[in-house]
Amino acid sequence: MNRVVVPELLDHLAPTDPAAQRSRRDLRRINFLMGNETWVCRVAGRFPAAAAHGISEIGAGDGHLSAKLAARFPLAEVAAYDLAPRPHGLDDRVKWIQGDLLAQPPPSPGGIVVANLFLHHFEAAALGALGRWMEAARVVIFNEPDRGVLPHFLGALMWPWINRVTRHDMHVSISAGFVSGEISALLGLEPQHWQFEETSRWRGGRCVIGWRT
Ligand SMILES: C[S@@+](CC[C@H](N)C(=O)[O-])C[C@H]1O[C@@H](n2cnc3c(N)ncnc32)[C@H](O)[C@@H]1O
Repeated sequence: MNRVVVPELLDHLAPTDPAAQRSRRDLRRINFLMGNETWVCRVAGRFPAAAAHGISEIGAGDGHLSAKLAARFPLAEVAAYDLAPRPHGLDDRVKWIQGDLLAQPPPSPGGIVVANLFLHHFEAAALGALGRWMEAARVVIFNEPDRGVLPHFLGALMWPWINRVTRHDMHVSISAGFVSGEISALLGLEPQHWQFEETSRWRGGRCVIGWRT
């Protein structure tokens, strides 16, 4: 099954649109069921020295994961990047950077870059640019959709509980997701400088941890 990137509805809805707000709530539920945020926080805990140089979450959505990271690392600077405006009530410790990520200056060197259900938005050329954007990081932690038949099937089981935006975006996301080795290769993070651990989880996540050697 080849990778197909199709625009997602949520990216084109106003943040105040009720359908977008409902879809962000659906995403939170999906993250809970997939164990995504718990996994990212646990892995970040393996790299306290890098966390001390700052943690950047790209495509931060409603900021829930960034807030969790800020709570887990009380001394670290946590920055969240998204097209959407700063969510109401987000912990003041999270610095919110609104706009197209690739138009922003890269994060300060030596820290951690985290992405949850974000990289799959991009075609190969943009992923290459994203890889260059984050190349000064010491650690990268990504949880993305696993591209395959089983994730589509598991996603379809959720239809009764999610709105039309989430239904569309979920299957588009899985088709734009990744198979083994694809994320690091598309980002262009060179194996001579980076070591990777990669797993796919039955709940549909493709999990990549990379650190500079
Ligand atoms: C599928 S949502 C995931 C959000 C969040 N990580 C979560 O798990 O709930 C993808 C997010 O990426 C953001 N996004 C898409 N393209 C972007 C870009 N070029 N620059 C910054 N953020 C972007 C969208 O606004 C959206 O919030």
